[in-house]
Amino acid sequence: MRKVAFITGATRGIGKEIALTLASEGYDIALNYRTMNDSVNTLKSDIESKGVHCLLVKGDVSSYEDAENMIKEIITKLERIDVLVNNAGITKDGLLIRMPKENFNDVINTNLIGTFNVTKMVVSQMLKQKYGKIINISSVVGISGNTGQCNYAASKAGIIGFTKSLAKELGSKNILVNAIAPGYIQTSMTDSLKDEIKEDIAKNIPLKRLGEPKDIANLVKFLASEDSSYITGQVIHVDGGLLM
Ligand SMILES: NC(=O)c1ccc[n+]([C@@H]2O[C@H](COP(=O)([O-])OP(=O)(O)OC[C@H]3O[C@@H](n4cnc5c(N)ncnc54)[C@H](O)[C@@H]3O)[C@@H](O)[C@H]2O)c1
Repeated sequence: MRKVAFITGATRGIGKEIALTLASEGYDIALNYRTMNDSVNTLKSDIESKGVHCLLVKGDVSSYEDAENMIKEIITKLERIDVLVNNAGITKDGLLIRMPKENFNDVINTNLIGTFNVTKMVVSQMLKQKYGKIINISSVVGISGNTGQCNYAASKAGIIGFTKSLAKELGSKNILVNAIAPGYIQTSMTDSLKDEIKEDIAKNIPLKRLGEPKDIANLVKFLASEDSSYITGQVIHVDGGLLM
């Protein structure tokens, strides 16, 4: 039987690498995007060149209605969802004292409420299948906190509480729920950091470098596979040893 993986925010960075990696493992891919452009179509072709289907699903995860429509479309066209990766995320950094309430709300709405919206719809389908793997992308910052990121850290800490609670609710239904806490990974999210800051960050990482999207995708591959069938409710760090 074919397996289907749905990845949110999958047009670039970590999400894109997860989509390509799971496609190489033979999963049909439902790929969430917000704005169509040439690179989205190129990614679809790259995924399909691995011999699997790629369904592009347009939607903003912070919208409950969009989440509902995306899941309906995936079930209609690909018939099932075996793996959900809640990857879509944003940052709007700033010290609390200067943070407009919109910047707090936007980050919570995308990162945390978005995870709720999509997961709620997908779980109904996974219950019917009596099978599912849910993988939520949190962050080390959700555990350690970070100056200038109270909105982002709150959203990522929220994802950890969400993951553990859902793992308890769904364990008996053969649905496993885990979170990944990446450290600093080289994507457009970290591109905005100045080179000196990245060098400083790397000095404090035992492995002395920032991570690559592939470092996260490799763990997603494991958590999606049957090799992880006794692991649920965990937060697994992929951060070069930054946080121990
Ligand atoms: N890069 C890092 O160092 C790092 C560290 C820890 C955690 N993370 C997390 O990893 C995930 C991926 O981040 P990335 O580094 O690849 O960043 P990125 O900015 O390259 O990618 C984020 C993706 O999410 C999509 N997205 C944003 N808001 C969305 C919405 N409302 N609906 C649908 N899609 C939306 C974007 O379009 C983009 O494709 C995020 O959840 C991020 O918080 C990243």
